[in-house]
Amino acid sequence: MTDIGTPIDWAPGFIANTTPKIVSGRFEFEDSFTIERAMATGAYNGLKAALAKTPAAVHDEVRGATVLGRGGAGFPAGVKWGFMPPDKWPRYLVVNGDESEPGTYKDRLLMERDPHQLIEGCLIACYATGLSQCFLYVRGEMPLAHERIAVALNDAYEARLVGKNILGSNFSVDIVLHWGAGAYVVGEETALIESLEGNRGMPRLKPPFFPAAVGLYGQPTIVNNIETLANLPWILSNGAQAYAEIGSESSPGTRLVAVSGHVKRPGVYEIVNGLTTFRDLIYGDQYCKGIRDDNELKAFVPGGGSAPWFTPEQLDVPFEGREASAEGSMLGSGAVIVMDETTDIPTAALSLTKFYAHESCGKCVPCREGGTWLEKILTRVVKGQGSPRDLELLLEVGATICPGDFPHASSSRLGLEAQPFPYKMTTICFVGPSAFAPIHSALTLFPEEFEAKLTRRDTIPLMSMPVADATGTDESVGAVS
Ligand SMILES: Cc1cc2nc3c(=O)[nH]c(=O)nc-3n(C[C@H](O)[C@H](O)[C@H](O)COP(=O)(O)O)c2cc1C
Ligand code: SF4
Repeated sequence: MTDIGTPIDWAPGFIANTTPKIVSGRFEFEDSFTIERAMATGAYNGLKAALAKTPAAVHDEVRGATVLGRGGAGFPAGVKWGFMPPDKWPRYLVVNGDESEPGTYKDRLLMERDPHQLIEGCLIACYATGLSQCFLYVRGEMPLAHERIAVALNDAYEARLVGKNILGSNFSVDIVLHWGAGAYVVGEETALIESLEGNRGMPRLKPPFFPAAVGLYGQPTIVNNIETLANLPWILSNGAQAYAEIGSESSPGTRLVAVSGHVKRPGVYEIVNGLTTFRDLIYGDQYCKGIRDDNELKAFVPGGGSAPWFTPEQLDVPFEGREASAEGSMLGSGAVIVMDETTDIPTAALSLTKFYAHESCGKCVPCREGGTWLEKILTRVVKGQGSPRDLELLLEVGATICPGDFPHASSSRLGLEAQPFPYKMTTICFVGPSAFAPIHSALTLFPEEFEAKLTRRDTIPLMSMPVADATGTDESVGAVS
């Protein structure tokens, strides 16, 4: 038997615990990214199991497992694969490794620490759906991920795991590694396709055409997130049934969550999907171990910087998409940002809004202009130069991007009922609404913190305003003696 070496307790971003490991199983080895370690720990067994079945049977297995997309929208991968027209070729797999959502860094770990699992997942997806070529798009600011995937790909080609006649079968596919240039909006799937085609990374209008029908070079294209694909080797090795037994019925398996902010032990944790609650994650000994300095929790962003905020009242919500939506937010990209009692809420909202305003691609006016306006007005407020009118203005500008009710959490302190997710929007993609989301949450859940920052310009009645007359004596304007 091959010596699998000694597991480690800690690797960058990974902390050992007893939660089932579907995608982070190899993280505990220091050399987890090498082909030697991968092969010694069962890599490519899922691919072998897939090649022993028909492509349709593999597709059925993935559909049966209900692998919810981990890129943000949570759409089941097996269902999305089925949207490709059956008679149009060639067709492509585009792997979304552009991860840039504030707070999110779980895909980076998957790329850096287990590139072979990702390659195996890509091969399984290509085999199941008859894809001709795979493009792995990795964010430009992740050089280590790029380097490790490049080495892993070279090793996998040499071992005949990628390329022509994989593992001696009739299945052949090439994987192309592509550097992104570092724009947040290129994480949006149609902008990513534009960027791959050599164009400026701006989202396409959809509907009418979704990538599965008209994608890269006008051909049917599946865009999947890194973590979504990383689940496939385990599912093919262990079966959809075993996957379904972990997690809840509506959200099977596990998911990776990156936690940042004011917790004692930030990091990336694999949690049980649909069952683990935010309280488990933030306070649990297996995970973040509570708030730094034993401070009180003030608020947390449950699903990456674009998500409406939760407060301690929502701690018992599980990582389940529908429950999070009913409570007024979303699970998004699997990132939790924790804010303790010392947080200045308007300033925290400003730092997120600044990011989205800066990342606007400029294609639609409400986002291009609105994001900048929101940033300017909120900056004024945070600097103590704002007026009560500025708070109304923030909501008015926000309503030009997202007309109607915007989702928010309930607050018994303020007597607020939750407004469920999602929202309406006037923009092509979610960058515009994302600039407004932190402001809306902060203003709705912590109005007193904004009030406290306002410059008071209360109207002073003219009748009683003291003025100096030409003789130097103070009199009230219009005062009647
Ligand atoms: C502004 C914006 C940024 C996005 N960034 C990412 C990203 O970095 N990674 C990702 O997988 N999906 C991202 N998405 C979602 C993708 O458009 C797409 O839904 C996803 O890659 C599909 O993969 P999945 O079905 O496996 O989740 C982003 C969406 C938007 C609107
Ligand atoms: S919402 Fe913003 S980022 Fe998205 S397409 Fe419109 S301008 Fe570009």
